[in-house]
Amino acid sequence: MLNTQNSPRLTHNAHADRANVSKAGIPDPAFHPSLPDFATTPLRSAPKAAQRLGVRSVLVKDESQRLGMPSFKILGASWATYRSVMAHLGRAVGAQPTLDELREAVGAQASDLTLVAATDGNHGRAVARMAKLLGLAAIIIVPAGTVDSRIDAITGEGAEVRVVDGGYDDAIAASAALSDDKHVVISDTSWEGYTDTPGWVIDGYSTMLKEVIDEIEAGHVAEPTVVAAQMGVGAFAAAVTRQFASRPARLLVGVEPITADCVITSVEAGKITTIPGPQDSIMAGLNCGTPSIVAWDDVLHGYDVLVTVTDDDARDAMRLLHDDGIEAGESGAAGLAGLLAHAEGLGLGPQDDVIVLLTEGVTDPVAYRDIIGS
Ligand SMILES: Cc1ncc(COP(=O)(O)O)c(C=O)c1O
Repeated sequence: MLNTQNSPRLTHNAHADRANVSKAGIPDPAFHPSLPDFATTPLRSAPKAAQRLGVRSVLVKDESQRLGMPSFKILGASWATYRSVMAHLGRAVGAQPTLDELREAVGAQASDLTLVAATDGNHGRAVARMAKLLGLAAIIIVPAGTVDSRIDAITGEGAEVRVVDGGYDDAIAASAALSDDKHVVISDTSWEGYTDTPGWVIDGYSTMLKEVIDEIEAGHVAEPTVVAAQMGVGAFAAAVTRQFASRPARLLVGVEPITADCVITSVEAGKITTIPGPQDSIMAGLNCGTPSIVAWDDVLHGYDVLVTVTDDDARDAMRLLHDDGIEAGESGAAGLAGLLAHAEGLGLGPQDDVIVLLTEGVTDPVAYRDIIGS
């Protein structure tokens, strides 16, 4: 069945086969710490969320501040920029890849390059930041209807923003069309013939997940029984399952907006399926119409259950996180929203230790104040 249904749904994944999920590719450990403001992000306890869900504990991996940006996306954008630009310049990956090494390569060979990306907000802002750090130009393409605060954040990094007349898939097509010797496309999604860069984006995300695994393995936090990951094109979800598929969690849960349900629709169909656009959820980072082909196999096999949520579910999760002292953006709260909306269907109970991944802090302050009511 194509696209959007009117109420949230829960699909048990007939293709789940976690033993077949790939192992994570990890960026060189020297790279992310070489970027300005690098720090491990916190795992926060959310007792009010745990109480509402009826589970033993909820931990929130809080990416509302990462490398000076309000989302985890810079982890993927930065590593993909390093790998893509070095490849574009015909240079080998250094023994210890760092920002300075990339700056030196760009300065010597290609100070006239432009980085190009399509985005719902966070990825493009992160690519724009990378261009600024490298002294390069950036062109960032956004769907129609992108809110001013997100556009301003990108222009604030010095990038040119172009608004397409259409949705995220149209923005992707417009970015791909710019690719040439002087324009390097840093996309977080993939298509036939363009897979290396989005693969490196997924690898870059694993720094965040590895931090969670390190805490578990050090015995600082409980091994989770449930992990929820929000899905746009599924690249982030691929990074999550590459770390968690082989661990004991009884449930890996993928979460999408009901109006941007391309991954769950594809999983139900057993093949990549494009849903009609444009997508208009308030969970802007998840407004995608087609799963990424480099993420697809691992998402198809790597999730036990997939659920959809409404915008109201996201608002509810944002308020609950706020009560726990955590500021979440719409897409950032989506994982928790999925668990709240489907707690019964997922069989959540006092035996469960839950990890949710707060992928974004407040990126639309006007909407945030409205939702939180203060
Ligand atoms: C805040 C946030 N969370 C989650 C995602 C989902 O990532 P993906 O598109 O890789 O599924 C995005 C994507 O832009 C995002 O911005």
